Amino acid sequence: MTTLAILTAAGSGTRLGRDLPKALVELAGFPLVLHAARRLASSGVVDALVVTCPAGLDTAVRDVVAQDPHVDVPVRVVEGGATRQASVATGLALAGPDDDVVLVHDAARPLAPPLLVRRVAAAVRAGHRAVVPGLPVTDTVKQVAPPSPAGAGAAGGPDVERVVETPDRALLRAVQTPQGFDRALLERAHAQGAVRASAEGLAATDDAGLVEALGEAVHVVAGEEAAMKITTERDLLVARLLLEEES
Ligand code: CTP
Ligand code: MG
Repeated sequence: MTTLAILTAAGSGTRLGRDLPKALVELAGFPLVLHAARRLASSGVVDALVVTCPAGLDTAVRDVVAQDPHVDVPVRVVEGGATRQASVATGLALAGPDDDVVLVHDAARPLAPPLLVRRVAAAVRAGHRAVVPGLPVTDTVKQVAPPSPAGAGAAGGPDVERVVETPDRALLRAVQTPQGFDRALLERAHAQGAVRASAEGLAATDDAGLVEALGEAVHVVAGEEAAMKITTERDLLVARLLLEEES
């Protein structure tokens, strides 16, 4: 009866555009992956940590995370895959028989607070086998038609997309990580996801999506603003402000 956290850090950070992978970019003097690992460890509900890292950087990431005195849980570092989904699958393969709960978290959300980690884990322990943190959406969201193969839009005009639907905003949630799962369910979801990825070339952007594809229920608990995702330089500025607010 233990909880394993998989911390994905194998992405390249293309949209951030630095000359090192996003997880190793520093925020207030520490790499993003270390911020995330410290908060997972200090939640008190994580028994062990697996970090997925970019190819060739396992030693560097191990030095950063496993040597840190604030990360007081066993840490394993493995090279991730070509997609986030493949990276999570690589981490999940290291789960032990006693790891009945698995949390999947992104180094790209370095400030997800320990209380959020506890909230997600508690919901899984309470019997919800797939749990995601989510926040209400403030923008009105439109679904647009998929791009037509012939190329859309009238010649010479601005690029336009056709709106298909406006979902009721009150029922939308912007979801974050850590996402929490019953290990057996997550393994089944990834096994099925791998079959679809090889057949259709599509990888899921989150783990809960793979569970939904099995037809299994996914539950939402309240998210936290601090669990914002770092994609661009602007997000790093916001994160710096949040950290200042925190201290
Ligand atoms: N990730 C991973 N393995 C991959 C791709 C992404 O472990 N092959 C991880 C990233 O390290 C990140 C999380 O998945 O913690 C979310 O991905 P994203 O924010 O897209 O990060 P990057 O893929 O690094 O950024 P970009 O898409 O801009 O290149
Ligand atoms: Mg990416």
